[in-house]
Amino acid sequence: MNPLSFIDFKTQHQPRAYVNSVVRFHHEFTEKQRLEAAKKAGWNVFQFPSEMLRGGDLLSDSGTTTLTAEQTAAMFLGDEAYGSNYGYFELLKTFEEVFGISARDTEMYLFHQGRAAEHALFTQIGKFGSGLKIPSNGHFDTTRANIENNGIEAIDCFSKELNSPKYAAFKGNMDLDALELLLKQDARRIPIVYMTVTNNSGGGQPVSMENMKAVRMLCKKYEKPLFFDACRFAENTWFVKNREDGYAKKEVAAIVKEMFSLCDGFTISLKKDGLGNMGGALIIKKQTVFAKQHQQLLNDIRDHQILTEGHPTYGGLTGRDIMTICVGLKTVITQQYLNSRIGQVHEFGRYLKELDIPILEPFGGHAIYIDMDKFFEGTKHTRPDFGGIAFTGLLLLKGVRLCELGAFAFGENHPYNFVRCAIPRNKYEIQDLYYVADCVKILFNQRKKLPRAVPVYGRDLTLRHFKARFELKEIV
Ligand code: F0G
Repeated sequence: MNPLSFIDFKTQHQPRAYVNSVVRFHHEFTEKQRLEAAKKAGWNVFQFPSEMLRGGDLLSDSGTTTLTAEQTAAMFLGDEAYGSNYGYFELLKTFEEVFGISARDTEMYLFHQGRAAEHALFTQIGKFGSGLKIPSNGHFDTTRANIENNGIEAIDCFSKELNSPKYAAFKGNMDLDALELLLKQDARRIPIVYMTVTNNSGGGQPVSMENMKAVRMLCKKYEKPLFFDACRFAENTWFVKNREDGYAKKEVAAIVKEMFSLCDGFTISLKKDGLGNMGGALIIKKQTVFAKQHQQLLNDIRDHQILTEGHPTYGGLTGRDIMTICVGLKTVITQQYLNSRIGQVHEFGRYLKELDIPILEPFGGHAIYIDMDKFFEGTKHTRPDFGGIAFTGLLLLKGVRLCELGAFAFGENHPYNFVRCAIPRNKYEIQDLYYVADCVKILFNQRKKLPRAVPVYGRDLTLRHFKARFELKEIV
């Protein structure tokens, strides 16, 4: 049987004709053209031309934001000076206003994106010695790669609730027992503790303030600095406000400040909750023991930044980028924005659930995760068939792009086997997402017949999901 034979289906909802893209305004593509493109891309979604995605491009919520009118207006005030551009000082003020950290008391290192900040931090920490370990509630893949690339072991302490079908309000939490065990056994080898909020590798699930405080206490007990990976700090705050005792009446802005009072520093990709199309930063608080003990590190990171990104006052960003981030950071901490953002993600999740698609619950902040092990239950598919790759590949033919973050991306033995539907900010309307869900449903109904994906290139490469190529073959 031709593994693609059942793709010619009709959906209940249609996407809007032209979604925020000039390219899409000019071209219409047929399924045949998409099929040719998908084959040319080796069924690797990253290699598929985005202009062909009329349905919904849910590959990532990173840098895919549509700028608001306020951001676009601010962009024109971007000052493209080599040193000390206007936006830099605005950004310092914004960081103080949003995170509650004063420019005087912090080292702020600007980078063009989050992983560049991680690269700088872990390159220097890697020099502390050999056999180091960095525990986290869930390292994101670039964070893990940057840690491991410097000879450090990246350890995930996912919460016990994450893998349970039972409701838990904060499945993104750090497993405190696992963390304490590590700290007890190996304190000498742990240079910092890391917390990702929200927990992208852990189903986009939020972290409670209580858990952050408990981790802070453990770090204090074992004299370890605590760093956040704060990419989705504002979305996390929405969950704290809405689900955690004692926070309902607090302003989002106040909760954000409380959260950032707990850490010694943080890395952030400003392409998520910065609402930027580019941007990242590393912040280290100067009054902490970590900063005081590692003065040389502060200087070496600055050199690293200058060597790789440019002058500290622009750090790989244009003045225009910086201005959009200044406005973006203030927008994301408004109640209206967060209600509409998370509300949309949750309405998409509700509809998928209504269609009986097996998804991770409760829904996270930026994405809905389809559980591929459950999706393929009762079929011939096993993890080494990489059904998630075949499923995302076939969706390309309908102009829809999702991302496999499971058996292929993280290895066949990874605890989770997800396909992620990440929702770009301020970009889609709900009918676009209904269309995506309809396409998912139709393939779900055909799950027994879905092909397997056979890697023909890159199976053993590092970060293989970005590079591999596949052929789709009939399931046997
Ligand atoms: N940390 C987390 C939790 C992330 O989700 C990402 C990126 C990064 C760090 C790295 O930031 O892309 O600016 O270099 N996540 C994107 C995603 C790529 O699709 O989830 P970056």
